[in-house]
Amino acid sequence: MIPNTIRIAHAVFHVTDLERSRQFYVDLLGLNVLHETDGALYLRANEDREWTLKLELAPEAGVKHVAYRMGTDDDLTALTALLDAQGLPWRWESELDRPRLLRFQDPFGVPVAAYAESVKHPWLLQEYHRHRGAGLQRIDHVNVMTPDVAGTMGWYMQHLGFRLSEYTEDEHGRIWAAWIQRRGSVHDLALTNGSGPRLHHFAYWMPDMQSIIRACDILAGARLPEHIERGPGRHGVSNAFFVYIRDPDGHRIELYTNDYLTVDPDFEPIRWSLDDPRRQTLWGARTPRSWFEEGSLLEAYAGGWVTPQAGDLVGIPVNVI
Ligand SMILES: [Fe+2]
Repeated sequence: MIPNTIRIAHAVFHVTDLERSRQFYVDLLGLNVLHETDGALYLRANEDREWTLKLELAPEAGVKHVAYRMGTDDDLTALTALLDAQGLPWRWESELDRPRLLRFQDPFGVPVAAYAESVKHPWLLQEYHRHRGAGLQRIDHVNVMTPDVAGTMGWYMQHLGFRLSEYTEDEHGRIWAAWIQRRGSVHDLALTNGSGPRLHHFAYWMPDMQSIIRACDILAGARLPEHIERGPGRHGVSNAFFVYIRDPDGHRIELYTNDYLTVDPDFEPIRWSLDDPRRQTLWGARTPRSWFEEGSLLEAYAGGWVTPQAGDLVGIPVNVI
């Protein structure tokens, strides 16, 4: 039985100054505080019925894990069987609203959690009088930078039933990036070639393009334009309108909207050539070097950080500033 993964569900970030992070995520971007404990904020966007980003005060910035919602407890059991069969470590943990959180490490070193049940909270989607900041709407995807895009993509597709939406390939047939999904959107998980594994970014869906412009205006108004790293613009891959911003610890957040559906059983993945500049930005805008080189460290299963590895694929794709 292939465990039924429903969707990407949350991330836990280690941050070094919780009040500074609160100002960024809550006061400026407009995420909502669902819970607050000593040393942690549990945040959600306006459509989220559960918390989707936990900020945890820690001595060093990094990512504790990324988490997926599974169908049922039987799927969690099937996942433990898969992990046992592959000799991958796992343990039970708990989180606020999520008493049964299966924490494991995928074969490529990414810290992953999975759960089937969570306390639900009334959404804020139509509580328009409570929307603040840029009006982030819902969790959309995570992007992991890895030296083994093809291997990681293959594992998630073969063992967890992910489906391929789009991919970037060079003239030798080597895969440089892949966008894979479970919920019928373009992706729950993107994989980008680079030194890793590290978290490249964590993305929220936005209600419209204007809300992304507003996020930029808010950061500029707060005298924080240096937190806008790339864009706004339109991706070739996914067709989404986007901006990438960096939080006070350097964690990269993408604000994202207007991609498309991939639910048809005969959907055919879209191939992009590595040397096609339209895949990054349909308008041809160049990408800063930091976007290719920087990412957040991931927590190792036994503690400490996963040591990033450089891959065989070297060089930075075209159209870099
Ligand atoms: Fe993204």
